[in-house]
Amino acid sequence: MDKMIQTARGELIITNDGATILKSTQALHPAAKMLVDLSAAQDVEVGDGTTSVVILAGSLLGAAQKMLAKGIHPTMIAQSFTKASVKAVEYLTEMSIPIQLSDSASLLRAASTSLNSKIMSQYSSTLAPIAVAAVSRLATQSSSDVDLRDIRIVKKVGGTIEDTELVENGLVLHQNAITDAGGPTRVESAKIALIQFQLSAPKPDMDNVVIVSNYLQMDKINKEKRRYLGNLCIKIKKTGCNVLLIQKSILRDAVDALALQYLSQMKILVVKDIERDEIQFLSKTLGCKPIADIEAFSEEKFGRAELVDDVSRLGSRLLKISGIRNMGPTVSLVAMGSNKVVLDECERSLHDALCVVRCLVKKRALIGGGGAPEIHVSRMLSEYANSLKGVESYCFHAYAEALEVIPVTLAENAGLDAIAIVTELRNRHALGERNAGINVRRVSLHICYLALAIAHSRNLKGLVSDVLDEDVVQPLLVSTSAVELATETVCLLLKIDDYVQAR
Ligand SMILES: Nc1ncnc2c1ncn2[C@@H]1O[C@H](COP(=O)(O)OP(=O)(O)OP(=O)(O)O)[C@@H](O)[C@H]1O
Ligand SMILES: [Mg+2]
Repeated sequence: MDKMIQTARGELIITNDGATILKSTQALHPAAKMLVDLSAAQDVEVGDGTTSVVILAGSLLGAAQKMLAKGIHPTMIAQSFTKASVKAVEYLTEMSIPIQLSDSASLLRAASTSLNSKIMSQYSSTLAPIAVAAVSRLATQSSSDVDLRDIRIVKKVGGTIEDTELVENGLVLHQNAITDAGGPTRVESAKIALIQFQLSAPKPDMDNVVIVSNYLQMDKINKEKRRYLGNLCIKIKKTGCNVLLIQKSILRDAVDALALQYLSQMKILVVKDIERDEIQFLSKTLGCKPIADIEAFSEEKFGRAELVDDVSRLGSRLLKISGIRNMGPTVSLVAMGSNKVVLDECERSLHDALCVVRCLVKKRALIGGGGAPEIHVSRMLSEYANSLKGVESYCFHAYAEALEVIPVTLAENAGLDAIAIVTELRNRHALGERNAGINVRRVSLHICYLALAIAHSRNLKGLVSDVLDEDVVQPLLVSTSAVELATETVCLLLKIDDYVQAR
């Protein structure tokens, strides 16, 4: 289910993303804060599975609590849980299916699964291919990771999510061309300079008071300003530059009205308010070097493109730079949506899908979803626990049972009878179907068309199916990381026996 969050500043967030939900909650207890951090850690590590990791940790804590009540020492529980998690990762790895990066169908299936649970699920046919294409452009056969900072999502209100697109051999900016002084909005054969200095009159270093007592002095100041700005603009024009990207400045105006007037007369397209953290992405994409001083302003630092155009798309203005010469290894995505709330969730969902594909670059293996791996690992761990003795065996059994929380939660969220589903899953796994899981897409169809009749009549055959056949797959790394991180946090909490508040 999705959550509606009202932030302290009155903003509205509608999301399904675990990390975002938890970040917005203001947890007070340090142990609760650790669970929020756990979700954030999973977000950094793999980007998806941020809800599962916390659900798993909660279930493990519940299991531990029952064992503590029986008098088992927390250190013993923590040790056994750590061993059980190592075994669980082994079983997960053993059931995974290795894939090749060139196998884009598999990448697409994994990206679609990550979008299935989101509000954006109806647009997964648009977003999943975009996520796969974006990561595939940056990854080579030999790469072991992809830096997602090289993929930029520009959000624009207008149209629907279906209008979201990947920009081919180009770049899109958040900012628009300035037209206040009548400057150009379209430039062909662009020579683009990215500057970090200001095109406005300098300010004194200290707070000085200059008293202007007559028009003559006023004229002198204006003349000096015109001369200073004119010189700057002439120097810029002389180099042949025709597109100027100006970094935002907090010291003084990045570009003032007079400079804009000169630049528009010189037919130079101006974009201001480039953020400091955009500089690296822009210079990498355009192949240009940021210029910090007018003295260093020279042609070899420019980026070149066939066209810079301020276009209008579905009611939004977009500054598009296309046909970039020697474009760097980056990708720009334009996310479109009818309002800000939808767009923000679209960005988070796209981020999850991008992370899923990145996980497959890091570790090229897939496993089924829909609770199938958890039930399999739970069964295998229980079997293994029978070969152990004493308390350790007991702890392994408890750990195995705790893993079943994932299929239980999936079933509950789909409005199904969780106990019946999990029992059916256990049966099917005992019969050797180790990829038997819940397919929620199929469940929703059942719910829509058969008005819950099938679910109530306990005819679970259609709901529990082979998840690999149903294309419900996820990266191995998401599951292994969730198991490892959740166990680590639970063990950390178990080893604490007192809480001291330092003042
Ligand atoms: N069509 C489907 N049928 C059944 N289960 C599915 C389906 N699609 C995804 N799942 C399962 O849903 C779970 C993921 O749910 P969800 O994406 O809401 O949470 P998360 O990945 O843990 O966290 P988040 O996406 O918020 O970071 C996984 O266990 C996955 O196997
Ligand atoms: Mg997910």
